[in-house]
Amino acid sequence: MRIAINTGGGDAPGLNAVIRAASLSALNLGWEVVGIRRGYHGLFQEDGLVSLTRASVRGITHTGGTILGTTNRGNPLKWPVEGPDGEIQLVDRSEEVVSEFKRRGLDALIAIGGDGSLRIAAKLSEKGLPVVGVPKTIDNDLAATQVTFGFHTAVETATDAISKLHSTAEAHSRVMVVEVMGRGTGWIALFAGMAGTADVILIPEIPYRLDNVCRKIDERYEGDLGFAIVVAAEGAFPEGGDPVLAERGGAGKTERLGGIAERLAHEIGQRTGRETRSLALRHLQRGGQPNAYDRLLALRFGAAAVKLVQDGCFGCMVALDPPKVLAVPLAEAVTDIKRVPLDGDVVQTARSLGISFGD
Ligand code: F6P
Repeated sequence: MRIAINTGGGDAPGLNAVIRAASLSALNLGWEVVGIRRGYHGLFQEDGLVSLTRASVRGITHTGGTILGTTNRGNPLKWPVEGPDGEIQLVDRSEEVVSEFKRRGLDALIAIGGDGSLRIAAKLSEKGLPVVGVPKTIDNDLAATQVTFGFHTAVETATDAISKLHSTAEAHSRVMVVEVMGRGTGWIALFAGMAGTADVILIPEIPYRLDNVCRKIDERYEGDLGFAIVVAAEGAFPEGGDPVLAERGGAGKTERLGGIAERLAHEIGQRTGRETRSLALRHLQRGGQPNAYDRLLALRFGAAAVKLVQDGCFGCMVALDPPKVLAVPLAEAVTDIKRVPLDGDVVQTARSLGISFGD
């Protein structure tokens, strides 16, 4: 067996631990392992494949990023190509991926990615590529697994930042608005907002009203509690409004969210007359070492993916269903994203504590 591993989409702490576990598990079966550099790009480049040996995966369990590189611009189903008139056209290169994979003598692919990358993997699997998916994203928005690796580390990073803001907010009697990642879901905002004891948490699942946000902030200024912390997911939006875009999509460009903290800080300042500051944690949440939870989950996922390849269970994704790591069909895994359940215990706990969701 000669298997390949690639990492696609935004990086998440724990990618290298998956690569190491999958490589060692496969090497211990006597297989050969190669990594494809930068998602699927490496398949189209002569030096795009790298041999993964015991030596090359040594000492990477605790490291952030990915030794293979990644990209969220490398969708082989929508590959940007410049047309004769200079306009960018999106072409489907999936057939080429499958034939190039075979030409390079590869027998199976372990594709580590989030919803976008796993959707690509599902399509390639339909076209005959023997693929096993491994779910990753700090956003934790994949429906078929209880949790994705990278999420808990991102929550810790965000919690630490929110906790640190308390003393400066209090010292200046300010409102601090913190933006965390989460395009369509508010998992990071909810978990870090609660652990970091925010007063207001805004998530895409609950459209907010500025009036309600400001009312909660005003409450926090009654008595001698003169400061407030607002945590907003980048994808949160007001009732009847839209999320704030940092960059529009189209013509080969992916739409990027960002800017809600700055906008909200301005609106809150205007509405309440209180001094308000904002910051966006952005890629800090993706960087750094994975925590122990994410390392272990990533190692389990990597080893389980090799077991699925060994069993010939292609078109599947490994998923955590505690206490087990199971296989779920890739096609099912990417049908919908996992949103924060509004009747769930965590949202209910936040409400019991008096945290406002702006609704
Ligand atoms: O999908 C993970 C994620 O972190 C999103 O929350 C965020 O919108 C996006 O990646 C940002 O990606 P980029 O690296 O393109 O800025």
